[in-house]
Amino acid sequence: MGTEFSRRAALQTLAASGAVAALASTGINASAQTSNFDSYGASAKKNPWALGWRSAGAADLSTPEVKLISGKIPAGLSGTFYRNGPALFERDGLRLDHWFDGDGMVHAYNISGGKVSHTGRMVRTGKYLREEKAGRFLVSGLGTKIENPVAISGPDDVNVANTSVLPIIGANGDSELLALWEGGSVYRLDDTSLETLGTKTWAPELQGMPFSAHPKIENDGTVWNFGQDFFNNRMIIYKISPKGKLAGMRVLKNIPGGMIHDFCMTKKHLIFVAPSFRITRKADTILDMFKWLPNESQRVIVVEKDNLDNRREYELPPGFQFHYGNAWEDKSGDIRFSVCVGDSGFIEKGAKALMRGEIYESAPARLAHVVLRKNGSAKIESILSERATHEFPQFNARFSGQNARYLYTVGDQAKTGVGQISILKHDLKTGKITAHNYGEHSIVEEHLYIPRPRTAHLGAIREDDGWLIGTSLNLKTKATRLNILNAARLEDGPLAVLELPYALPLGFHGAWKKA
Ligand SMILES: [Fe+2]
Repeated sequence: MGTEFSRRAALQTLAASGAVAALASTGINASAQTSNFDSYGASAKKNPWALGWRSAGAADLSTPEVKLISGKIPAGLSGTFYRNGPALFERDGLRLDHWFDGDGMVHAYNISGGKVSHTGRMVRTGKYLREEKAGRFLVSGLGTKIENPVAISGPDDVNVANTSVLPIIGANGDSELLALWEGGSVYRLDDTSLETLGTKTWAPELQGMPFSAHPKIENDGTVWNFGQDFFNNRMIIYKISPKGKLAGMRVLKNIPGGMIHDFCMTKKHLIFVAPSFRITRKADTILDMFKWLPNESQRVIVVEKDNLDNRREYELPPGFQFHYGNAWEDKSGDIRFSVCVGDSGFIEKGAKALMRGEIYESAPARLAHVVLRKNGSAKIESILSERATHEFPQFNARFSGQNARYLYTVGDQAKTGVGQISILKHDLKTGKITAHNYGEHSIVEEHLYIPRPRTAHLGAIREDDGWLIGTSLNLKTKATRLNILNAARLEDGPLAVLELPYALPLGFHGAWKKA
């Protein structure tokens, strides 16, 4: 791909962003929004789980020393665990319709000298600042319709920066933290104070372009990512150098208009799956433009990293997924990857019901293994676990693109039907699953794999020689907990549990930056 930019193609993509027109024309449904507020309020009085969808208690949160509840911070674990998620759901008596529309709050759990501090700050996006000033929501979102929306000029006018984070080297050579969304620009944050510094422009031609929340990082620090223009069946591919500079981009055409949230990467290829949740119609919200097509195959696009114009296509049975595990290619050229696949029930209905304090039982996401054969055939090769609902798949990043043995997921649905209660380790070689169950009073969030640091004499050699770090919402103590587990022995339970003096709204994704 080199460093050649296709300026015209990039600008065409931006200009073609039909999202702008679509959002500007959103309709009015004030009665539904009011009842959202009341419905959630009534539910929160009787359902402890509703705490997970309450706005953060303040725009800025700080705990200099997070209380250790049990265990001890492992020696050698030193760095910052960042997280992002929607954290503001109500303004002026109005409650958002869809979980994914909440304004983003970024968190930093700094681990140093066996102690942990927490900082949380709302990302000061343009949208957030304008709405703070106005005292009301001004623009519609993915699945929320706002009465009398103000005019918008581009996707960044509705950017909530709420999905993930990426520590990176900034333009001046200093480290910075990016708050990621998927519909527009990333926001730059100071990686210590979490102060919002503004949007990042990778190159002048790319201002305001979508940049997904699931970048993939090679072992040398090279970052690959995409941004989807589903209105025009196009996708932009980004390659960012280990020093944080744009190393190349390409606009891919003829990408099926399915909602693509994440992708996977082998040593040689990028793999995109356009699910059976396709853009089919005009509607009041972006989400309503998509339709679940239960008989429509998923379309898989595989492109070569060294030549993005070189692509192969496959079909898979109907499905929808948010997230992928690892992917690799064997000597014969067959590509395999793991994925948490279900249908579009959660994004369409489940994430709306939660905002009303209600439960919609969507089909569980099953952990599946897919094979894409060199000869053009593709299939779900196996279901890795019959245990219902797996999400947030993670693995040892040092084994990215390899036939790795272990995969970690959040799973086991709570009896209430809301959220998962376990962190699971899948041995892909033997099929054995080990787990730690946090209990029915917990809602477990994404856990990241952190390899034990290498030293001159001692270092991680085994694939599972490291820790899992992740948060959970404890519904008994009404507080968010930080949990650290030995990745080799999840069944022993956490090595350390710490508890914040407040409950954070449930979030999405995080990243680790070693000290
Ligand atoms: Fe995601």
